[in-house]
Amino acid sequence: MADKITLSTLKRYKKEHRKITMLTCYDYSTAVLLGQAGVDSILVGDSLAQVVLGHETTLPASMDIMIELTAAVHRGAPEVYLIGDMPFLSYQVCPENAIINAGRFLSEAGCDAVKLEVDHRHLSIIERLSTAGIPVVAHLGYRPQWASQEDKVVQTRSLDRACQLIQDGLDMLQAGASAILLECVTSHVAQALTEKTDQPVISCGSGPYCDGQVLVLHEVLGMPGACHPKFCKQYADLSEQIRSAVGIYVDEVQKNSFPDREHSYHMNVEQQEQFKQWLKTFDGT
Ligand code: KIV
Repeated sequence: MADKITLSTLKRYKKEHRKITMLTCYDYSTAVLLGQAGVDSILVGDSLAQVVLGHETTLPASMDIMIELTAAVHRGAPEVYLIGDMPFLSYQVCPENAIINAGRFLSEAGCDAVKLEVDHRHLSIIERLSTAGIPVVAHLGYRPQWASQEDKVVQTRSLDRACQLIQDGLDMLQAGASAILLECVTSHVAQALTEKTDQPVISCGSGPYCDGQVLVLHEVLGMPGACHPKFCKQYADLSEQIRSAVGIYVDEVQKNSFPDREHSYHMNVEQQEQFKQWLKTFDGT
């Protein structure tokens, strides 16, 4: 098995100017493939509410489903740096509740860190979690859990929003955040924050100057449920491949060409003969 990727590994990559690769993932078998393909880090995002469960927003992701699926991803790719996404209302209610919920990601699901969608109002939560020994990724910029209160998707075009973002990022790091994730932040603002810290800064639609990139896997693979924002790039059309393979299966079953001899179990000639004789004497009662 490959060496375990830790926060120190990611910080070394930053120092060596080697980009960090991160994708979302929500199940065991896909995690195996992501690990084999050499991804450094997996985020089990609350985007699972949309792409796995079919909800319109990320808000219905529950703690229990996040923990269950994150543990499955950990079993599939134990070597990657695994981040669990704290769902809506799992950290906003009170710090004690946030510590208990974040702790579950580490103790029950094998996470290396948790991610929280935050701004300056959440500094004390970041501080409490890191004091409790829980590594935190601070998600700044566009935050899907707060979508109904955001006026814009792209966050830092104006000078005051850009300054606020830089200040929030530095305050998060000061409060103990291990890494920052920037969603839909303009490239040069993301670059400025990236250059002001030794901790990894990951871009989700925030340009090429951060230490690494993360995308939602369903968008990368062309699967249903993805919302295809401008910053996403589709690298495969799995929807088409799955529709085509399943279409062939449906056709073969309907024509009775599947299962064929190769995909069935058989008796040898002697066993068949014995069974035939027995059937003749069997009266069905
Ligand atoms: O939930 C998620 O998948 C995320 C990414 C978009 C960063 O937070």
